[in-house]
Amino acid sequence: MCGIVGYIGFRRADQVIISALKRLEYRGYDSWGVAVKHGNSLEIIKRVGAIGDVENYSLAEGNVGIGHTRWATHGKPSEINAHPHTDCNNQIAVVHNGIISNFQSLKEELESRGHKFSSETDTEVIAHLIEEEYRGDLKEAVMKAVERLRGSYAIVVMHAETEELVAARYKSPLVIGVGDGEWFIASDVPAVLDYTNRVIYLEDGDVAKLWNDGFTIWNNGKEVERRVETVPWSIEDAEKGGYEHFMLKEIHENPRVVEETLLEYLEDDIKIDSRIFAGISDILFVACGTSFHACLVGKYLIEGLTGIPVRVEYASEFNYSNPPLSRTLVVGITQSGETADTLEAMRKAKKLGMRVLAITNVLGSTATRVADHVIYTRAGPEIGVAATKTFIAQLIVLYLIAAKISSLPPTEIEELLEELRNIPQKIRQILDREDEISSISNTFAGYENMMYVGRGIGYPVALEGALKLKEISYIHAEGYPAGELKHGPFALLGEKTPVVACVVRDKTYESMLGNIKEIKARESPVIAVADEDDEEIEKFVDYVIRTPSTIPLLTPLTYSVALQLFAYHIARIRGCEIDKPRNLAKSVTVE
Ligand code: M6R
Repeated sequence: MCGIVGYIGFRRADQVIISALKRLEYRGYDSWGVAVKHGNSLEIIKRVGAIGDVENYSLAEGNVGIGHTRWATHGKPSEINAHPHTDCNNQIAVVHNGIISNFQSLKEELESRGHKFSSETDTEVIAHLIEEEYRGDLKEAVMKAVERLRGSYAIVVMHAETEELVAARYKSPLVIGVGDGEWFIASDVPAVLDYTNRVIYLEDGDVAKLWNDGFTIWNNGKEVERRVETVPWSIEDAEKGGYEHFMLKEIHENPRVVEETLLEYLEDDIKIDSRIFAGISDILFVACGTSFHACLVGKYLIEGLTGIPVRVEYASEFNYSNPPLSRTLVVGITQSGETADTLEAMRKAKKLGMRVLAITNVLGSTATRVADHVIYTRAGPEIGVAATKTFIAQLIVLYLIAAKISSLPPTEIEELLEELRNIPQKIRQILDREDEISSISNTFAGYENMMYVGRGIGYPVALEGALKLKEISYIHAEGYPAGELKHGPFALLGEKTPVVACVVRDKTYESMLGNIKEIKARESPVIAVADEDDEEIEKFVDYVIRTPSTIPLLTPLTYSVALQLFAYHIARIRGCEIDKPRNLAKSVTVE
C-alpha cells in the first residue's frame, strides 16, 4: 500500500522525508520518490525498488518537501509512474494514495486542452487539474481540483514558488504531525513518530495548509478545529495501527478493501472487459489454499448466475491432469501472483492453447506476465501469512465477474450489486461485535480438533474457516460438506470435537438443520454462523455467531469475516505466533 510523507520546518527536508518513508516500508512498495523545493524550482528523485541507506541520497538543500512509496495500481512499477507527479511546467508536485475512479475521462478532457501526460497513473491528473486552477493561491486551487475527483484520495501538494504544503483527504487517511516549529504530514503515524507523537487525524473532506508558522484546516470551505492527540504507541505498535497483529489489522481493513475494489470496477456499469469471456465454452479455475476456496465460491456464483459450466482444480493437481482442449477460459487466482503451483498450471494451460486470466493482488507479478488478461484485486499488501482481506477482495471480483456475464434479468443483477454496495457497512458491524466473537473463541480455544461444515455456498466458507483456524492456532480443523459427515467423519464427532456450522438461509437451510441435529445427537458442541434474522437457529445449536442479514449469495463475505475473527481470537488466546505461523510462508514459490 502506498505511503505519503510531507515536511516543512527547519531540517533538511530530503533527509527527514527519506527516513520517514523508510518507516513505512513494512506496508510494502515497489518504487518511491521525493520532491524538495530549492529556490524557485522543485528537485525530484524517483527510484524503483527499495530505498536502502538514507545517506545514499542527497537532493538540493531545502526545508519543504514531499515523498511517496508506491505500491503500483495504475501502471507498472517504474520511475515514470513513481510519485511525485507534476504539472506541465514542473511547478506543482503531488503525492497521492487511493484511486481516482474517473481519471480516464479527466485525462482525456485535460489532454484535449493541451496537457501532456508522462505517466500511466491516475495521480497525474491531479497535478494537471491543480495547474489549471492555480491563480497564485495553492490551497484554493487544490480545493477546486478535488471537487472534480471521484474515488478516494489522500494528497499532499507543493508549489515551486511557495513555502507551504497543501493536503486533502477523502476516504484515505492522512495525519498531521505537530512538532516544535516544524510540521509533518503522512498517511500513517509511524512516519512521524521519530520526530513527534502529537498528531491530528484529518477527516473526509478536510483540506489542510501547512506553512512555517503553523497550519489551518478547512472542511466544506469553512475553517475547522481538529484535536491534537498524543500517540501512546511505539513505532512497532504504530506499524500495526495499534492492533496486536497485522492479521487483526488486515481483518479490520476488509470494509475499506471492499470499497476500493468496488470503486475500481463498479460505477453505473461493471468495468470489467467482457472480451475476456467472449466465446468461451466453460471456465476452469486453478489455485491453492485460500485462493482455491475463493474459486469454489466463484464456481457457485458463475454457474448460478450464468449457466456457464465451471471446474475448480488444485493448481498442484492440474499439472498431472489431461484437460480436454476446448474454448475453456482458465482462471488462475493468486493473491501474491507468485505461487509456483498456480503459475505452472497457468503456463500449462497456455501451452495447451487455452486463454488464461489471472486474478491477483500484485501488479507486475509473474502471474500477470503469464496470463493473457489480468484483473487486479485492490486489497493492498497483506503482511500476515494468513490470507484475510485478499480473500474478501477476490470474492468481490468474482461477484462482479459473475454479474458481468450473467444471463439473469438486469433487475436481479442490479439488486445483487445494490446489496454488494452495502457490504462494507455490514462488515463494519461484524467488526463492532468483535468482543462477542472473541468471547465465543475463548470457550473453544482449549479444544484440539474442530469440524467446519456447510452446504452449497456455505461449503467453501466452511473450508476457508477451517483453513484459517488450523494455520494460525494449530488446532486440527477439517472443512466438510455437511451432507458428507455421515460417510465417515461422524466417527470423529463427540464432546471433544466442536462443529462450526455455516448456516445459509437458502434452499440448503432445512437440510443443514437436519445435519445439525445429527451432529448434536453425537454430542459435539455446535457453533452456528448465521444471519441475524434467523430466529430458529439458536434452538438447534449451543452458540451463534451472528452477522448482519444479507442475501444468501453474499453470505461468504459476512460469514468469512466473522470466521477470520473467530480463528484469530482462538490463536491469540493460545498464544500462537499469528502473523508468522510455523512452517508457512506468505508466498510459496516452490512446487
Ligand atoms: O498467493 P496465493 O493466493 O497464490 O497463495 C495461495 C496459498 O499459498 C495461500 O492462500 C495460503 O493458503 C494462505 N496462507 C492461506 O491463508
